[in-house]
Amino acid sequence: MSATKVDAPVLALDGPSGAGKGTIGQICALKFGWHYLDSGAIYRGLAWLAHDQNVAADDVSGLVNLVDAMVLVCHVRENDVAQIEINGQMVTDKLRTEEAGEIASQIAPIPEVRASLLNMQRRCRKAPGLVADGRDMGTTVFPDSEFKVFLTASAEIRAQRRFDQLKAKGFDVNLARLLESIQARDVRDSSRATSPLKAAEDALVLDTSDLTVDEVVTRILNLVN
Ligand code: C5P
Repeated sequence: MSATKVDAPVLALDGPSGAGKGTIGQICALKFGWHYLDSGAIYRGLAWLAHDQNVAADDVSGLVNLVDAMVLVCHVRENDVAQIEINGQMVTDKLRTEEAGEIASQIAPIPEVRASLLNMQRRCRKAPGLVADGRDMGTTVFPDSEFKVFLTASAEIRAQRRFDQLKAKGFDVNLARLLESIQARDVRDSSRATSPLKAAEDALVLDTSDLTVDEVVTRILNLVN
């Protein structure tokens, strides 16, 4: 008799930029003792690598070659963004800039890029479990995940959160430009043909506009428990 392989459980946490996925996802990962995947960092990391190595954002084979050579590690941090290491280099701050987010959302619609990143993301599903944060975790990368949550909030509130976060890190930021960039990214992420940003049919949709971090975490803990 052959043993049936049972995959580790996954909490898929999707939603637009600034909805609180990073903060909430890391708190949940720490509470459950699970691994954490910041899939946005993969797209941002690829954008940064491409910029660093002069690979154009529309050079499909060049981008796929970069993916093949990319080793990314997410270090979970309490009360901070996850620290990201790419090919042995700590690059967290380089990836958090709006420029990296912009380039990431330009390369993210390319089907070949998304296909080449699928296995990298699925390999993160390890015991005792995985919290996966992104746009298409519940729909494409882990459609069979046990728990699916879609976090959202108004664009204004998301821009303000991003502003506070970047300001606290010492970045020189402009709220109006951040809002514009978040709205442009929403449109691009939601309207692309491959794996657009959308809630899985079986996801719990939570609007975090008027919720505290603790309230959101409590709702997710209730779902998982
Ligand atoms: O979540 P974050 O803002 O770091 O993601 C940066 C960009 O990467 C997004 O705007 C989106 O275009 C892309 N992305 C994606 N699929 C994911 C995660 C991020 O297309 N699962």
